[in-house]
Amino acid sequence: MDFKTLQAPKDGLCAISADALLLVLAASAVPAALEAALAGVVNVAVEAGDLRLESGRALYLHRVQGVKAPRLVVAVCADGAPPAAWRKALAAGLAQIKEGGARHVAVALIGAECDAAHAEALVALAHEATYVYRRTKPSAPAASRLERLSLVCEKAQARALEAGLARGRAIAAGVALARELANRPANHCTPTHLAAEARLLARRHARLAVQVLERRDVEKLGMGAFLAVAQASHQAPKFIVLRWQGAAKTKAPVVLVGKGITFDTGGISLKPAPEMDEMKFDMGGAASVLGTFAAVAELGLAINLVGLVPACENMPGGGAVKPGDVVRSLSGQTIEILNTDAEGRLVLCDALTYAERFKPAAVIDIATLTGACVIALGHHRSGLFSSDEALASSLLAAGERGGDLAWRLPLDEAYDEALKSNFADMGNVGGRPGGAITAAKFLQRFASRYGWAHLDIAGTAWKSGKEKGATGRPVPLLTHFLIERAG
Ligand code: BES
Ligand code: MN
Ligand code: ZN
Repeated sequence: MDFKTLQAPKDGLCAISADALLLVLAASAVPAALEAALAGVVNVAVEAGDLRLESGRALYLHRVQGVKAPRLVVAVCADGAPPAAWRKALAAGLAQIKEGGARHVAVALIGAECDAAHAEALVALAHEATYVYRRTKPSAPAASRLERLSLVCEKAQARALEAGLARGRAIAAGVALARELANRPANHCTPTHLAAEARLLARRHARLAVQVLERRDVEKLGMGAFLAVAQASHQAPKFIVLRWQGAAKTKAPVVLVGKGITFDTGGISLKPAPEMDEMKFDMGGAASVLGTFAAVAELGLAINLVGLVPACENMPGGGAVKPGDVVRSLSGQTIEILNTDAEGRLVLCDALTYAERFKPAAVIDIATLTGACVIALGHHRSGLFSSDEALASSLLAAGERGGDLAWRLPLDEAYDEALKSNFADMGNVGGRPGGAITAAKFLQRFASRYGWAHLDIAGTAWKSGKEKGATGRPVPLLTHFLIERAG
């Protein structure tokens, strides 16, 4: 899809030629500055009770006299058009148009100043509304005929808005890649496939390099926890290392670690059958790391970034790891695997130790880690855990800017108790109470040598039910965090 700014004077909306004009009214009253033809029709609609001036309402009007665009949609947004309200109004407005015949939509914000953040959100929303999964369903119909979106502005704003659109395009491409990879079924999206996709991405960007460690490599390194998860699968495990060099070699990198379980059966601690298919999304963390690299490379960010993806399947079988087995992690700490379904933390802990060799400025792991996090926060916010105050607040702020929210949860010492084992340095589970927190406490034992944050995206990485599919989260949060660090 094509996104551009369209320069037009404030009183030139009626003359815009597009298939549809989407007016977003950021006001509790119809602004006096609105052209007569538009003000007239909006006032009539409000008086007739067909359009309520409440945030998120929208009305479709066809062939309005005096308006060149044959379709007019009026969407209502809260005063001042704060980001969340702008998104809600746009979503409501686009929903009215996207199934119709319009190819080119012009969008204008009325009653508030349009800035780069508005432009970025427009791109994100339009992509979200039009993405269709086709890889194993080539017959899937297009979601919309939309091809072109123009953001109406005055000449002085154009440059800032173009920058916002460019950022939106990069993030949308990253989100699309993350969604696409996570949506692919586990018989297609294997660890080998993820490694091939990482290589494909690296081929498109000169400053991006990829290295893939094979089973024998991680054996030699001593990643006993990662290998224990992988040991019953017929799919070869892959430990994928991505490196983006956008700054001087001496600059300490940020490391992103993504859980890459391409299918989680639970192993010997087998999961129940209902909804088990959704465990193909258990590589959502890995997908978000690849998506974030795509966005960072597209934007050419002046940072150094390392991506680590321990990828494997968690399967039962004659060679599977068993409850009570004790393994030695790369850190040297031993782990009693009390529940083979708590596999995410096992692959992540070895990656967190591996991260030390990059002398990182910060390490962030991203994982569909616990059902308990879904119970705690539902599907709206990702769980954020961090031992580093500054890192935690920049991640929370980045989530706000990207419309990709997180919520901080605690890491109190007292929760650590639950991980005690009589047969190893720790067990891999801490019981049902505070399950998202004890999982984070487990990871923290491997992340003491740098500033660390953990994002539990079990509730946000995909949707269930009729709209089943990956969301691409938290690519917007991570990309905004990295944009800010690049300065
Ligand atoms: N991949 C799951 C977490 C998950 C469950 C994500 C449901 C989304 C929806 C993870 O590997 C897992 O199985 N976690 C267990 C941990 C438990 C055994 C301590 C869980 O949450 O039940
Ligand atoms: Mn599991
Ligand atoms: Zn899992």
